[in-house]
Amino acid sequence: MNSRDITALLEWYNKEKRDLPWRNTTDPYAIWLSEVILQQTRVDQGMSYYHKLLGQYPTVNDLANAPIDEVLSLWQGLGYYSRGRNLHGTAKKIQMLGNFPSTYTSLLELKGIGPYTAAAIASFAFHERVAVLDGNVFRVVTRFLASDMPIDKGPTREAFQLLLNEWIPEKAPADFNQAMMELGALVCTPKNPKCAKCPLAPNCAAYSAGTVLNFPVKASKTKVEPLFLYYAAIETPSGFIVNKRPESGVWAGLFDFPFVESKVPLSEEEVLLEFQKRFPSTRNSTWKKDKAYKHVLSHRKISAQFFSCLCPNMPNEFPSTKTSEELLKTGISALLMKYMKEVHI
Ligand code: ADE
Ligand code: SF4
Repeated sequence: MNSRDITALLEWYNKEKRDLPWRNTTDPYAIWLSEVILQQTRVDQGMSYYHKLLGQYPTVNDLANAPIDEVLSLWQGLGYYSRGRNLHGTAKKIQMLGNFPSTYTSLLELKGIGPYTAAAIASFAFHERVAVLDGNVFRVVTRFLASDMPIDKGPTREAFQLLLNEWIPEKAPADFNQAMMELGALVCTPKNPKCAKCPLAPNCAAYSAGTVLNFPVKASKTKVEPLFLYYAAIETPSGFIVNKRPESGVWAGLFDFPFVESKVPLSEEEVLLEFQKRFPSTRNSTWKKDKAYKHVLSHRKISAQFFSCLCPNMPNEFPSTKTSEELLKTGISALLMKYMKEVHI
């Protein structure tokens, strides 16, 4: 980011910023309170909690001296009581220190204040040149640079923190930080960024490449693990052998055929041996390699191979069966539905 980008950003911020109460104060306590609330909830909902808590406890000592139950009852509706508890505990700690820590480093030493909150307080209240790096800022920066460094990895955070700390201007660290967050909240939004109205557009790498929505990149999201599923469609006179899946995880609570799953491909022999071990009465029946499908879930790329077996006697070792009509009426996965429709209807 060059000085013209920074000037454009600050001008945009001064013109377009929302008038939010915590932006009109340099009281570190009020700023801390606002940031803790905004970690929990959106700006519009956070506002009433900010006024309520600050009204009841105008100083950090007032908060420290308050009974915890009273604090928690004011916190009600914000969720995560542990955060309300931590807020109160940290207020007591600050009271013991005698003053509100006034540097990024000393703020970080407080339990419950992480890098983001420490940077927010240090820059907004004490004008320290330390950049805030939250989800909004990550989105703006990775797009501006068209950087595909995964934002959920520690080294990426360190690298961007260093870079932003170089960009943040001496004369307006607080406004620069607020402006980056505000740009992420109002213009450089996740789904429909308004690049035409963005002060950073002239030098934005993702905008000029037309790849804005490719950023930010997340390591955990892009890791789509392969999974090999081998299904046994065992048809007995009373229907197909089925299991009900557990109430959590993939296809929770749906009916499913017996299967073998693996992270690596298995041979037909291995799979059939396993099925025949589980259902001994299918050993004398004919197994047939049936349809194969690719199926993509949020973080699984499934290769499914069906095997079918017509089993003339009901295997007494596994009594739960459903006819194809019953199966189509009960909950089954889209994958199983596709197979049933193509093969057994
Ligand atoms: N979200 C988190 N901190 C914020 C702030 N200071 N202003 C607006 N939105 C925020
Ligand atoms: Fe974000 Fe678009 Fe601005 Fe680039 S030009 S920073 S992608 S809003």
